[in-house]
Amino acid sequence: MTRFQKIRQHLSQHQYYWLVTGVAGFIGSNLLEGLLKLNQKIIGLDNFSTGYQHNLDQVRESVEPELWRNFKFVQGDIRNLDECRAVCRNVDFILHQAALGSVPRSIDDPILTNENNVSGFLNMLVAARDAKVKRFVYAASSSTYGDHPDLPKVESVIGNPLSPYAVTKYVNELYADVFARCYAMESIGLRYFNVFGPRQDPHGAYAAVIPLWVFALIKDKPLYINGDGETSRDFCYVDNVVQANLLAALTTDEAAINQVYNVALNERTSLNQLYTMMHALLIGKFPHLKSHQPQYVDFREGDVRHSQADISKAHNLLGFEPVYAIQEGLEAAMQWYVDNLTERTDIK
Ligand SMILES: NC(=O)c1ccc[n+]([C@@H]2O[C@H](COP(=O)([O-])OP(=O)(O)OC[C@H]3O[C@@H](n4cnc5c(N)ncnc54)[C@H](O)[C@@H]3O)[C@@H](O)[C@H]2O)c1
Repeated sequence: MTRFQKIRQHLSQHQYYWLVTGVAGFIGSNLLEGLLKLNQKIIGLDNFSTGYQHNLDQVRESVEPELWRNFKFVQGDIRNLDECRAVCRNVDFILHQAALGSVPRSIDDPILTNENNVSGFLNMLVAARDAKVKRFVYAASSSTYGDHPDLPKVESVIGNPLSPYAVTKYVNELYADVFARCYAMESIGLRYFNVFGPRQDPHGAYAAVIPLWVFALIKDKPLYINGDGETSRDFCYVDNVVQANLLAALTTDEAAINQVYNVALNERTSLNQLYTMMHALLIGKFPHLKSHQPQYVDFREGDVRHSQADISKAHNLLGFEPVYAIQEGLEAAMQWYVDNLTERTDIK
């Protein structure tokens, strides 16, 4: 039995009270779905800045009504300490996802990114400390590796940040570490690499590459590749991220607590390879793709050239074993986009 199977078994016998911030977003809504299906009680916080009511509606449709009754949604903002305190009351575990994502957004508006990702994060830490939650698990980021050239990325070796977003995510780690020292607070940071899957937003100037491209492919719009297409990333299907969060929340190994972990596959996929895989998965359903070609444009500011995670620390200390390889994850994600981008009227 894997560690994750043991944890699922434990959760089937014990009901905890979880707070998921950023619950109406991509990763938050997948955490909500995973927890509800394990019969857990969840309070969710979101200000709908980049999240959507339709993400919550879709989770509701995916679970039994009696499980949905275990969820309470609060519309609120982590920039408001009182609102953070209100949602932390009586909570066992926090999975903190609320933040403004996107490197380019942070270059356009560093103050807004800092307010959400640093001040908001600090509010959540203070509220969690005062509410005496068992553990604070938070979304860190591979952007913390910055300009360090080594591959694969090992948690202890980081470079200079390349964007305001990367600074905020590194500051999160520093604050969590200091809260462990000063207040004996338990936290675990998960450095997500490029996460993808159902409900990741395909819209707007700051959309991530997979949803942006799948939208362009399905809707037969121009698809741009930044640079020569040999830029590479360690793409990680969201269910693997859900697994990492549950392992981090429930580990009882003292050595595993107050640490940061890479969460990815330890595989590198270039943008050119990604395009080929996505194109191949969609071409059967969309004949217009027979003649589709990507357009190559300039490299994007603040982007690192290559990214690949060493996941041995998460494997050794948390028991992390990603279940979805990139191909399987892409198949599941493409199916969701096909169903939702072509059928739903609220996602145009
Ligand atoms: N998606 C990835 O590949 C990736 C990679 C590294 C790190 N992360 C981190 O994972 C977390 C979740 O990312 P995501 O991809 O699900 O993004 P997302 O934008 O879909 O979700 C973020 C959610 O947080 C909410 N939010 C933002 N600011 C808030 C505030 N001030 N108060 C309350 N709610 C607020 C948004 O409305 C949204 O629902 C973020 O912390 C992000 O930085 C994501």
